[in-house]
Amino acid sequence: MKYIFLWSSGTQFDITHLMDLTAPIGIFDSGIGGLTVLNAIASVMPSESTIYLGDTARVPYGSKSAETVARYARECADFLYQRNVKAIVIACNTATAYALQELQFHFDIPVIGVIEPGAHAALNVSHNKYIGVIGTAGTIASNGYGRMLKSMDASATVISRACPLFVPLIEEGLLNHDITHLTIMHYLHDMMHASMDTLILGCTHYPLLRQALAAYLGDGIHLVDSAQTTAATLHTLLTDQQLLSSEQCPGKHHVYVTDLPMRFEHVAHQFLGHLPISISRIDF
Ligand code: DGL
Repeated sequence: MKYIFLWSSGTQFDITHLMDLTAPIGIFDSGIGGLTVLNAIASVMPSESTIYLGDTARVPYGSKSAETVARYARECADFLYQRNVKAIVIACNTATAYALQELQFHFDIPVIGVIEPGAHAALNVSHNKYIGVIGTAGTIASNGYGRMLKSMDASATVISRACPLFVPLIEEGLLNHDITHLTIMHYLHDMMHASMDTLILGCTHYPLLRQALAAYLGDGIHLVDSAQTTAATLHTLLTDQQLLSSEQCPGKHHVYVTDLPMRFEHVAHQFLGHLPISISRIDF
């Protein structure tokens, strides 16, 4: 069988030589946040295997320059590509904002990011199209969500706020701590006065704060994260390209981290539930 990958731009790649349908899906993030995307992929496509790379030695990406984030993203994607993945998911908004186009151009396998699926999900649930976006300093500075939302619906109003302290709090596992509640109030207080009905969690770490954020924001605001819609986008893509695994048994999930795995392991199990993962450390 011949596998032709067709980008939305119309570019075609013959990837027959690369395609073992049981090959894993590659996923990367700066740290733990992208596991929200892994979790969603594993529940939508249980027989797919994955290789996840958390670049914990260099987290956070969100406070670094566009050039640095793009270089890190290239290195992460190269690492996954060398392990013969059949597609790459950039499970990091900051890396998506700064490196998606370059990685799509560079690799001959499908590469998707999280911003387009997140924007799409937000427009679907918002009634008044008054949409808030929170993310890392890098993601907010890139205005990736603002541009994407406006290109999908010119009538949308977008307000955004960088929340740089959220990632370290999450990486420390302080998901329901007083410091975290105070930090949420500090960042979101002003946004509460706007008439937004939807808030995009524009960082894959932030779904871990969903409970704390919902407690502060109340019922009237939809919280949207891109994990589910990214998994759905990937499912459609793999189906269309006939790249879905034909295996019936559950996929295997291996996680690589670039620093000591102990703390990562502890927080990972808090929200991956029973999904079995094996973790090992690598050095770039
Ligand atoms: N989880 C990442 C994101 O979605 C990056 C967090 C960070 O490293 O600053 O942007």
